[in-house]
Amino acid sequence: MTKEQLAIYAKEAMKQAYSPYSGYCVGAALLCKDGSVYTGCNIENAGYSATNCAERTAFFKAVSEGKREFSALAVCGGKEGTIWGIFPPCGVCRQVMREFCEDDFKIYLVKHDGIETYTLNQLLPVSFEPNILREEG
Ligand code: THU
Repeated sequence: MTKEQLAIYAKEAMKQAYSPYSGYCVGAALLCKDGSVYTGCNIENAGYSATNCAERTAFFKAVSEGKREFSALAVCGGKEGTIWGIFPPCGVCRQVMREFCEDDFKIYLVKHDGIETYTLNQLLPVSFEPNILREEG
């Protein structure tokens, strides 16, 4: 699957955003190593801190369906669903990615006129990763 194809899934997912408070619509599409795709949107809540980001929605859907290996994520977002600039993942979402993804996991930030490509290592260097808890003394 190309990054452009994955971006189409993210744009479709953005249409499902539930964002009555911020007005920002965000979509994410997560490509599993087996070729399957899981999408997610942001889901806001009157208790603001209960809001779930689009990226975590996609990850939690996939993990809860048994997926553990991922190769790429496309993300797009914008006010009232209009994509302009990039919509980079928040720190909490980056940490969730870190739990399941390698340094070279690709993150495609979708703009109205193109796609910026990053790796997880670029967006979350020197991270707190699962291996740290597995190390002895
Ligand atoms: N949001 C995401 O969906 N992903 C991010 O990584 C950043 C923020 C959502 C949460 C909220 O619904 C809206 O964008 C504004 O913060």
